[in-house]
Amino acid sequence: MSKYYNAMLEAGKALESREDYYILAIETSCDETAVAILQGKQILSSAIMSQIDIHKRFGGVVPEIASRNHTAAIDSIVECALSEAGISLSQIDAVAVTYGAGLLGALIVGVSYAKSLAYALGVPLYAINHIKGHIFAGFAYQNITLPAIALIVSGGHTAIAKVDSYTDIEILGSTRDDAVGEAFDKVARVLGLEYPGGPKICALAKEGKNNIKMPRSFKGEGHLDFSFSGIKTFVGNYVHNLVQKGLSVPRADIAHSFQEEVTGVLVQNTIKAIQNTGIKKVILAGGVGANDLLRSKLENACSHLGAELYMPEKKHCTDNAAMIGVACYHAIKQGLLPSDLTIDAVAELKIDEHN
Ligand code: KG4
Ligand code: ZN
Repeated sequence: MSKYYNAMLEAGKALESREDYYILAIETSCDETAVAILQGKQILSSAIMSQIDIHKRFGGVVPEIASRNHTAAIDSIVECALSEAGISLSQIDAVAVTYGAGLLGALIVGVSYAKSLAYALGVPLYAINHIKGHIFAGFAYQNITLPAIALIVSGGHTAIAKVDSYTDIEILGSTRDDAVGEAFDKVARVLGLEYPGGPKICALAKEGKNNIKMPRSFKGEGHLDFSFSGIKTFVGNYVHNLVQKGLSVPRADIAHSFQEEVTGVLVQNTIKAIQNTGIKKVILAGGVGANDLLRSKLENACSHLGAELYMPEKKHCTDNAAMIGVACYHAIKQGLLPSDLTIDAVAELKIDEHN
């Protein structure tokens, strides 16, 4: 082991029992260049530069453009996060970075930057799993004693997991095809709404009714898996048929009925997970967690079952670096070792992977 890494191990070990140290967290897995500063688990600042306006004209994220914009923006976002937190770079005690899952080129920008920064400052580097960041976002507001059931609903992942600790996560069910965020985005596109579709569907649904029967993929099976490709195809065909016949498309009713169905199946499987495991704690994680209907349905279901529900503020449901910092704090507390400087970005990373 190198002398340098030995020194980092010691520095990391020294943080385990402290609460006052500063973490600089970086997140560049998709189209948000985000940097946050934390003191222990307390979020001091969370700066985000969203590239949505750049990508929406293409109807989705263009990986190469995302990477280039991360490179152009990261320095100033770091400065912005530091000045909002009122601290200087030399006060940073640890650097946390999302190393996967996500767009490889986009991740590489954050990982390379984080490695150089950690090395230059002589502080430990922690490589954080993006989805674990989403799961731990809820820990920013309160102490959650584990185990808990996590409902993970993002643009790239949909799963239900039993979370025992940062390194001990068991997948109880997951999507067999599309992620739920992906389904929101694709249905939005069919309805002529801009990327990202989730918030637009949410808004349009408020003007519609639940009067179109949507298909449910799994009915009454014992497992907790999901499938969203069927409903996405159904909406595509439904709209196509109406357009071909020259009939008007009830966009708001489609948005409403679609949202009812997908939130219904997410909550149904969460209820099953609570019943199967007897764990009466639910953590909502990921961008679709900002959906009002999903939040209210989960609230009702959990109060009915006497389960505690932890939902991050909406701004911490979608991608941000504060969640990466909070996850890093918990990883350090749990004794996770710093990464060495050979760590690479990983496009496909399982939720239950060690880091
Ligand atoms: O977690 P996230 O920010 O990025 C990934 O890790 O993928 O999730 C992004 C997804 C997008 O598909 C977006 O449409 C969806 O979250 N989303 C929503 C809402 N806000 C964002 N979906 C439904 N309702 C919302 N309010
Ligand atoms: Zn995410």
